Amino acid sequence: MNTVSVQNVSMRFGDFTAVDDVSFTVADGEFVTLLGPSGCGKTTLLNVVSGFLQPSAGKIEIGGVDVTFVPPEKRDTAMCFQSYALFPHLSVAENLQFGLKQKRLPAAERKQRLNDVAEKLDLVAQLEKLPNQLSGGQQQRVALGRALTMRPSVVLFDEPLSNLDAKLRESVRLEIRKIQADYNLAAIYVTHDQGEALAMSDRILIMRNGKIEQSGTPTEIYNFPQTSFVADFIGDANILDATIIGQESEDFWRVSTEIGELLVKSDTPPIAKRLKICWRPENAQFGAGEMNSIEAPITHRAFQGNYTDLFIEMNGVAQRVQWRRSHLEDITSLSMNIRPEDIIFLEAMT
Ligand SMILES: Nc1ncnc2c1ncn2[C@@H]1O[C@H](COP(=O)(O)OP(=O)(O)O)[C@@H](O)[C@H]1O
Ligand SMILES: [Mg+2]
Repeated sequence: MNTVSVQNVSMRFGDFTAVDDVSFTVADGEFVTLLGPSGCGKTTLLNVVSGFLQPSAGKIEIGGVDVTFVPPEKRDTAMCFQSYALFPHLSVAENLQFGLKQKRLPAAERKQRLNDVAEKLDLVAQLEKLPNQLSGGQQQRVALGRALTMRPSVVLFDEPLSNLDAKLRESVRLEIRKIQADYNLAAIYVTHDQGEALAMSDRILIMRNGKIEQSGTPTEIYNFPQTSFVADFIGDANILDATIIGQESEDFWRVSTEIGELLVKSDTPPIAKRLKICWRPENAQFGAGEMNSIEAPITHRAFQGNYTDLFIEMNGVAQRVQWRRSHLEDITSLSMNIRPEDIIFLEAMT
């Protein structure tokens, strides 16, 4: 059963189209992330699902019921923003009950929901404090708790972790995921942070210019990007222009590129004779290989702690290679190969 169904939704502001014919569903208990650069329409789309905006076209169903023109407070959804959306002059307990008071729930019911959420989120000892007396992680838990006390079947998150520091973000991520699973909530999570999307999501929808460019599980998106935009947005990718020379055997294609001829293994045929291809820096195999051998000078390097990024240059084209070994000091050129299965066909060249 799909809890949320977004059907051909568009949102226009004047003659600008912020969301362009988007469709997707979210099942019970599923965690779906909208991932894309700033300005691609994520918040706008979330606001259409929550009811803060009415779409220019299309339909939203929640629990199988058309809610396109139902106001936010009558929808079975709750929003969770960054923690600074807490009311600074209200205690944690008052913040957590805020929506319940607006809904005019009886005091006994409010108390019971408050206790339940405070216990689940480990906030029992903080209830009398003001938000600025809490740590960043605790504040974020209150923001989540405020959404959960509403007992929604869908929680909508808009970049909730963006003002937490990196370490904290990682632990709150896990917490959000755990709570979401405990309550079996459908979640739509908006972020521009690829690491967050990969770590948290059941499914990722990559957005670009108001459209969904690709959707899939984190591993599908990472291992099989369909376009150079996706390949580049998630992880690092060396992207090349290629021309198909011919098919060598089943699944094997020979292509000509700026860095020489390469053999590509793909179970889907190339989409055009001239197209983009990519390979990931961490897939470089060191030493000459039987196929796709590359010999090139190292132009510069960037130490990253547990690995070093090496930049090599072939025929004027820079490629990034991830070096995971030590003893790099005296190496000035690289002999490496790329396995045919590590090269991916992308979109046609325009
Ligand atoms: N109320 C509005 N009026 C006009 N343009 C808007 C409005 N809201 C958003 N936009 C525009 O729509 C685009 C998408 O915005 P938004 O959904 O906030 O992007 P994101 O959340 O992905 O960063 C942006 O170009 C933004 O300027
Ligand atoms: Mg936004």
